[in-house]
Amino acid sequence: MDNKLVMALPTGRLGDSAIARLHAIGLAKKISPKSRKLVFDDDENIRYILVKPIDVITYVENGIADIGIIGSDVILEQEADVYEIMDLGFGLCKFSIAGLKDQTLYKPDEVIKVATKYPNVAKKYFQNKQQKIDIIKINGSVELAPLLGLSNVIVDIVETGNTLKANGLVVIEDMFEISAKTIVNRSSYRFKYQKITGLTKRLEASMEVK
Ligand code: PRP
Repeated sequence: MDNKLVMALPTGRLGDSAIARLHAIGLAKKISPKSRKLVFDDDENIRYILVKPIDVITYVENGIADIGIIGSDVILEQEADVYEIMDLGFGLCKFSIAGLKDQTLYKPDEVIKVATKYPNVAKKYFQNKQQKIDIIKINGSVELAPLLGLSNVIVDIVETGNTLKANGLVVIEDMFEISAKTIVNRSSYRFKYQKITGLTKRLEASMEVK
């Protein structure tokens, strides 16, 4: 059996933080997020694959990657069949409902339009609040939707708040805290237990590294 450990890392902001964390503990030294290369091997028998955040779970769930680093936003949206084993303490942000200011969010007799990249998260949240909604699935730049009248509000992640501010939107209600997690394929956890535990211990130690 191939003894290499395969780790899926997300591209983008969270991936940059994950790679910085790996670098701090001497791992993934050959990864350069600026290159167009998507597969990197290091001399510790670990292979790193760079994929879109939304695809990290798919690679881990199907056993192509043994382990992955991903934001809990994606885990909440996808409800995957993987082990979630560790909170990494970075990638901190939150799910929020945002829109133009001075508007009433809950309207018992109306259906409100919600634009989002996270339809499952939005659906469940508003169901619990007994608010009827129409979901408008958007794949990026969600902030445009209320500005152009496509939706009443958005459900999206807010980190610095700069994107909302730059587009004249405000947070109407905070929903959940989000952070980076490690996820592990169920069968890899049994068959590569030592290697996975070794790696997660090092990641845990990296949380002390400044
Ligand atoms: C995310 C999110 C917001 C932005 C929030 O988008 O969808 O647009 O980050 O971050 P801020 O509060 O620090 O401004 P992302 O950067 O992933 O790009 P996308 O809109 O193309 O998905």
